Amino acid sequence: MFKNKVYIITGANGRIGLELSKHLIKIGAKIVMTDIKTNNIKSLNNNNNHLIKKIDIINEKNIQHLIKMTHKKFNKIDGIVHCAYPVTKDWGQIFEKLSPKSLKENLFNQLGVSILISKQIIKYFIKNKISGKIIYISSIQGVRPPKFEHYRGLKMSSPIEYSVIKTGIISLTSYLAKLYKKNKISINCVSPGGIKDKQPKKFMKRYLQTCGLKGLLNPKDIVGTIIFLLSKNSEYINGQNIIIDDGWSL
Ligand SMILES: NC(=O)c1ccc[n+]([C@@H]2O[C@H](COP(=O)([O-])OP(=O)(O)OC[C@H]3O[C@@H](n4cnc5c(N)ncnc54)[C@H](O)[C@@H]3O)[C@@H](O)[C@H]2O)c1
Repeated sequence: MFKNKVYIITGANGRIGLELSKHLIKIGAKIVMTDIKTNNIKSLNNNNNHLIKKIDIINEKNIQHLIKMTHKKFNKIDGIVHCAYPVTKDWGQIFEKLSPKSLKENLFNQLGVSILISKQIIKYFIKNKISGKIIYISSIQGVRPPKFEHYRGLKMSSPIEYSVIKTGIISLTSYLAKLYKKNKISINCVSPGGIKDKQPKKFMKRYLQTCGLKGLLNPKDIVGTIIFLLSKNSEYINGQNIIIDDGWSL
C-alpha cells in the first residue's frame, strides 16, 4: 500500500519522528526525513529512497525549499507528518514568570509554523492536483487541562503555552480540513499521551493510576495510528483528532 508513496517527516530525528521514519522505510515508502539534528537518522540514509535534509523548519523559505527538493527528487509528495517540536531554550517557564519573548517565540515556532507548513504544502497539493495528506501531532494536553496533581512537588510542569498550542493544532486541523475538503486533501491530527522519557518514578506512578495498564507510552504506540491516517483505510477520515492515551483523558 505504501510502495511509491512519498512523505516528508519533520522532526524525524526525535522520538515520534524517528520511530515513524523507521516504520515507513520498513513498509516501502519513500521519505524525506528532516530535522535540525540528524544524529539518530544518519544510519537510515542507506537508500536512494530515504533522504535526510537538515533544515530549520521555523523559516518559511526552508519549508518551500523542502517541498521543492522533495518534488524534484521523487516527482510528487503524498503527504507530510509534522513531528518537529521547535521549543525555545527557556521552554517551560512557570506561568507567573512567563516572558512575552518566550511566549511569542513558542507560539510562532510551534503553532505559527504548523500553519505555514499547511499553507505551503496545500498550495503544492492544489497546484499538482494531489489528494495529499497532512498529519499534525497535538497532545492530550490540547484536549484536557493538565492533571496538575501529577506534577505536585516535582521539578516538572506542563506549560500553559503547550496546552494552548496543542488545542490550536486541533483547531487548525478541522479548519483546514473543512476549507479544502473539495480538493480531496485530508488533514488530521493525533493526540498522544505522555511518552516515557526518564520521568521521575513518582510521576510515572501517579500518571499510570489515571490510565489503563500502560500509562506512559512508547513512540511505537503512536506510529500505528499515523500509518492508518496515511493509508487508504482512512480515506474518508478528515479533520479529526485521534487520541492515543491509554484512557488518560477519560
Ligand atoms: N513526547 C511526548 O510525551 C509527547 C506527547 C504528546 C505529544 N507530543 C508531540 O509530539 C511531537 C513530537 O514530539 P517528540 O517527543 O518526538 O519530540 P522530540 O523532541 O523527541 O523530537 C522533536 C524533533 O524536532 C526537532 N526540531 C526542533 N526544532 C526544530 C527546528 N527548528 N527545525 C527542525 N527540527 C526541529 C528536534 O531536533 C527533534 O529531533 C511534538 O509536537 C510533541 O508536542 C509529544
